[in-house]
Amino acid sequence: AHFDTRKGPLAGRKIIVTSGPTHEPIDPVRYIANRSSGKQGHAVAAALAKLGADVRLVSGPVAIADPAGVSVSHVESAREMRDAVESLLPADAAVFVAAVADWRTERSAAEKIKKAPGNAAPSLQMVENPDILAGIGHHANRPYLVVGFAAETQNVVANAQAKLKKKGADFIVANDVSHEGGVMGGDRNRVRIVSAGGVEEWPEMSKEDVAERLAALIAERLKTITV
Ligand code: CTP
Ligand code: CA
Repeated sequence: AHFDTRKGPLAGRKIIVTSGPTHEPIDPVRYIANRSSGKQGHAVAAALAKLGADVRLVSGPVAIADPAGVSVSHVESAREMRDAVESLLPADAAVFVAAVADWRTERSAAEKIKKAPGNAAPSLQMVENPDILAGIGHHANRPYLVVGFAAETQNVVANAQAKLKKKGADFIVANDVSHEGGVMGGDRNRVRIVSAGGVEEWPEMSKEDVAERLAALIAERLKTITV
């Protein structure tokens, strides 16, 4: 399907979306990653495109197809994702759905690390990855609207409010991932929208419905911003 980027409430708007996990190499065959199917991020990209936006999806490694009507950059690591996002500025809005690995190994081995009798297991020296959302939230060329996601297992609202401030976001879509058989890899989601204006609870719904409601919220917010 092709979406007409000249029609719909987001016509003429360029929106960056990140999705999926990042992979941080240990050696040529091994990596560290976060758990993420990319379903929610890809659904957000598709929903924004359906409203007429020019969507630029930056996706980590996922097993699902590129969404229709969206331009996709495929990346592996957090630093590649950051570079891809920055190269897409300026934009009207950016939505950070990716589950970025918080740490990477300080250096990855050029050759495969081999087991050998008597060899100890390798110990990995980790360093922190750049915070892509915070970098864009505080960027000189910041999009009008910056939206983050937050996966929490406890103190969901307080943690989301702290992230909102620290990262310079307008909204955080907060997700309680504590319950079993829940969000991770599943098709449904229950979120709260945390902003400076307060907390809005959305009922449990499919990830597609979360995406469509979020796209409508973004369209409504951007409507008040004239360029
Ligand atoms: N994020 C990002 N770059 C990172 C880490 C997170 O862009 N290096 C973004 C995610 O895409 C998400 C938001 O920041 O939109 C919150 O991610 P989350 O993992 O919940 O928060 P962290 O700040 O990494 O804190 P922690 O994992 O310790 O809860
Ligand atoms: Ca994190």
